[in-house]
Amino acid sequence: MLDTPFQRVEDVWLQSFSVTYEYPVVFTRDAFALGNRSLVDVLSRREPHKRHRCLTFVDQGVLTSLPDLPSQIENYAAAHAGNIELVGALVPLAGGEVCKNDPNAVPRLLELLSQHAIDRHSFTIAIGGGAVLDAVGYASAIFHRGVRHIRFPTTVLAQDDSGVGVKNAVNQFGLKNLIGTFAPPWAIINDSAFIGMLPPREKRGGMAEAVKVALIRDGKLFNWLEAHADELARFSRPHLDYLIKETAALHMHQIRHGGDPFETGSARPLDFGHWSAHKLEQLTRNEVNHGEAVAIGVALDTRYSVLSGRLASGEDERVADLLKRLGFVLWHDKLRQCDSRGRPLLLKGLADFQEHLGGELTITLLAGIGRSVEVHEMDEKIVSQSIDWLEQRK
Ligand SMILES: NC(=O)c1ccc[n+]([C@@H]2O[C@H](COP(=O)([O-])OP(=O)(O)OC[C@H]3O[C@@H](n4cnc5c(N)ncnc54)[C@H](O)[C@@H]3O)[C@@H](O)[C@H]2O)c1
Ligand SMILES: [Zn+2]
Repeated sequence: MLDTPFQRVEDVWLQSFSVTYEYPVVFTRDAFALGNRSLVDVLSRREPHKRHRCLTFVDQGVLTSLPDLPSQIENYAAAHAGNIELVGALVPLAGGEVCKNDPNAVPRLLELLSQHAIDRHSFTIAIGGGAVLDAVGYASAIFHRGVRHIRFPTTVLAQDDSGVGVKNAVNQFGLKNLIGTFAPPWAIINDSAFIGMLPPREKRGGMAEAVKVALIRDGKLFNWLEAHADELARFSRPHLDYLIKETAALHMHQIRHGGDPFETGSARPLDFGHWSAHKLEQLTRNEVNHGEAVAIGVALDTRYSVLSGRLASGEDERVADLLKRLGFVLWHDKLRQCDSRGRPLLLKGLADFQEHLGGELTITLLAGIGRSVEVHEMDEKIVSQSIDWLEQRK
């Protein structure tokens, strides 16, 4: 008889193993300056003496702001030719939700990976906002069951939240993020130069995630945000850099220590304010972007936390004031839209949120600034009162 490591009970064998994931998150500036070793070093992390094949995808929004990026990348690859081989020309991709909505986008990406003979030792590199990273990340995760993938997030939101995480997805059947995988990347390079080129609206959007994660995890960061709201509203570079790093660290800490990196449970503890944010994005057909919707969702659930007796009164004013000082508008008329029975359409966001994860409804609320609490029921009357409060303060 074989000496097997299985735990065997009659004909039921229990297979069990674990896999360790490890990826560097590099903070740098001007990653494609010839002397910047960030990319060469992450490519060569396991095989320092190899020429690594790379196919690069770039967000069109980034290319419009930085038209000489392709030549910068070519020069960089030429200067590091011992370690980098660019496979094919750089591929531009429409930025924003378009690339996640287009049903032909992923097949086209897969076709390119196939044409360029990308294998499990080659690299795909995606430079762009969260949407482009999601689409390229998904194609990379399913091609050959997963090829090495490096992300260059180029928005505040992607650098401080989505880009440093382990998920990817595209939209299908009109449903957001319906198809995707959990696939930790090979590496992430957060280049602060990309942030400088962003339109103000995109710069601001990612700050809502900072307020969100500070409220549920880190009261000190919340105090810092309050103390520096004016500099942040002016997009002061050192302040924005600090916000991105601290917020990314909190998101990474949750994935590492939260006990459920691949979200198999019923809770998404970092999605404070998101049940209504996702619904508002949908109701407004993305007229309100993710960050703007999160700001409204965070204000709404903070007020709910006060009205339901979990959070000291006054803290809701504090949170709404901070968000407004950062430049967010905490109202949209779609918050008022009701179905034929007079029920706010927004409330359907609760069921959608539960459906996406499966299991029991789990919503994160606040028990203090920097302290979250999970609840499994939301009182529709209190949600409506919270909506009223937002409307009165608009
Ligand atoms: N995978 C995850 O864990 C996760 C988490 C949160 C959000 N997301 C996804 O991220 C997406 C939102 O990402 P986002 O907020 O980064 O915005 P985005 O990707 O939608 O980009 C917004 C706009 O900014 C442009 N752009 C990007 N970088 C630029 C730059 N440096 N200069 C000029 N223009 C630039 C894009 O072309 C686009 O027009 C959503 O699809 C959301 O579902 C994913
Ligand atoms: Zn978010």
